[in-house]
Amino acid sequence: MSHKIAVLPGDGIGVEITEQAVRVLTALGLDIELNTAPVGGAAYDLHGHPLPPSTLELAKNSSAILFGAVGDWKYDKLAREFRPEQAILGLRKALSLFANLRPAILYPQLANASSLKPEVVSGLDILIVRELTGDIYFGQPRGVREVESGPYKGERQGYDTMHYAETEVRRIAHVAFQAAQKRSKKLCSVDKANVLETSQFWRDIMITVAAEYPDVELSHMYVDNAAMQLVRAPKEFDVIVTGNLFGDILSDEAAMLTGSIGMLPSASLNASNQGLYEPSHGSAPDIAGQNIANPLATILSSAMMLRYSLQEAGQADRIEAAVQAVLEQGLRTADIYEAGATKVSTSEMGDAILKALK
Ligand code: IPM
Ligand code: MG
Repeated sequence: MSHKIAVLPGDGIGVEITEQAVRVLTALGLDIELNTAPVGGAAYDLHGHPLPPSTLELAKNSSAILFGAVGDWKYDKLAREFRPEQAILGLRKALSLFANLRPAILYPQLANASSLKPEVVSGLDILIVRELTGDIYFGQPRGVREVESGPYKGERQGYDTMHYAETEVRRIAHVAFQAAQKRSKKLCSVDKANVLETSQFWRDIMITVAAEYPDVELSHMYVDNAAMQLVRAPKEFDVIVTGNLFGDILSDEAAMLTGSIGMLPSASLNASNQGLYEPSHGSAPDIAGQNIANPLATILSSAMMLRYSLQEAGQADRIEAAVQAVLEQGLRTADIYEAGATKVSTSEMGDAILKALK
């Protein structure tokens, strides 16, 4: 049966990097059908909405979505519902993509790219499991209202709501425990249970679910401490599970530990393994259209797609091996370039990956 893949390049460098990932996917010789649609600012310009119904339908009817990036300063003044970011939030919600897997791996060839000392980060291999469809990101009510009593009575007040239902915590807990089982069997749940009711509830459910995974060692950490430990001794972590907001922040921090956010893929999955795959970095409008962006995070995202949504782990291995091979050859895009390496463009990196595919 042919796999349907929706390709949503989006804005900025999203266009160039997905182009390279599509070349790689096509070269594998699989029975796949690729359909491209606009998303983000590009879709707003064409259809007046960052996630037009036609794009959403295509995404819903595909096994997997290859997503580039969205966003550009020129949309910053639009009402929130029309901003490019709403496309990714809308896709996550509409497809129930609650499980976000964000690996932070330091490639040995890029050991000097990190701003931390090599001994602190060498061999770093962390997986952040971020809950993606709940928390303060989607909690209602939210908005701006008039304060009714107290010292700020009569003033305007911005507000959001943080909450997690038991099902939401349980299902992300299972994803995280199962990921930990396949790795070093250590899971750290990050919360703010010393202050937030939502977090205490999260922690209580994590402990309950842990009973089903006696082989995994569960620990808990407050998010402020986790932010600190991530830069102090990141290798103490293996799998981290956390909520949507904390996961947003910590996954950027973890990505930067590797010094090469241009290398990091991510997967967002629902209960039926339908998934959205995107690089961890953004649309980088400042370098868009120059053929200098690093396509490897997107190419590695397509490997995650093969592994998690298309059940083609062997093909995923092929892509990952090709990435290792081009790094070994000393090929580097500008973001990971260092003296002595060979600087290549976005499309040249794509060419090299195609050549390295075994
Ligand atoms: C991310 C991004 C998004 C988020 C934005 C673009 C809405 O920062 O995927 O981490 O906050 O989740
Ligand atoms: Mg983020």
